Amino acid sequence: MDNRKFTIEMEINDEMFEVDILAGETLLYVLRNKLGLTGAKPGCLNGDCGACTVMVDNLPFKSCIMLGIEASGHKITTIEGLRDTPIQRAFIEHFAFQCGYCTPGFILNCHSLVQNHAHPSKDTIKSWLSSNICRCTSYQEIEEAVMSTIK
Ligand code: FES
Ligand code: FES
Repeated sequence: MDNRKFTIEMEINDEMFEVDILAGETLLYVLRNKLGLTGAKPGCLNGDCGACTVMVDNLPFKSCIMLGIEASGHKITTIEGLRDTPIQRAFIEHFAFQCGYCTPGFILNCHSLVQNHAHPSKDTIKSWLSSNICRCTSYQEIEEAVMSTIK
């Protein structure tokens, strides 16, 4: 790993943080281990499962394959930054989770979807959700939760 040290400013959930990081540390590692924001979950750690999804400037990113240093100058949103949003309520109302491990990543992905697409088609929803994996529930409930938030 690249062990050069940097102090960077990060904007996370509308708050500014000054963080000492190593060049090779991932954003997921920095969020969880340096800032105590454990909502983003480690899963595959290679960009496949989406459990670590956060929003970077309103788009979903897998924080296990993004360096912490790359987050400087961007607006990062983690699940801790969402409060009672329509998609969070929809996940509860549509039973769109079981163990919940994948849920923060799915919620941020879906939140970003409805923010970026006012009226997504079923195909758009399916393709947007294909970046995240859930081992427990069926994807149907998750799709229904997303659809219920679209007017
Ligand atoms: S932990 Fe990041 S995509 Fe799986
Ligand atoms: S609810 Fe358990 S992995 Fe998705």
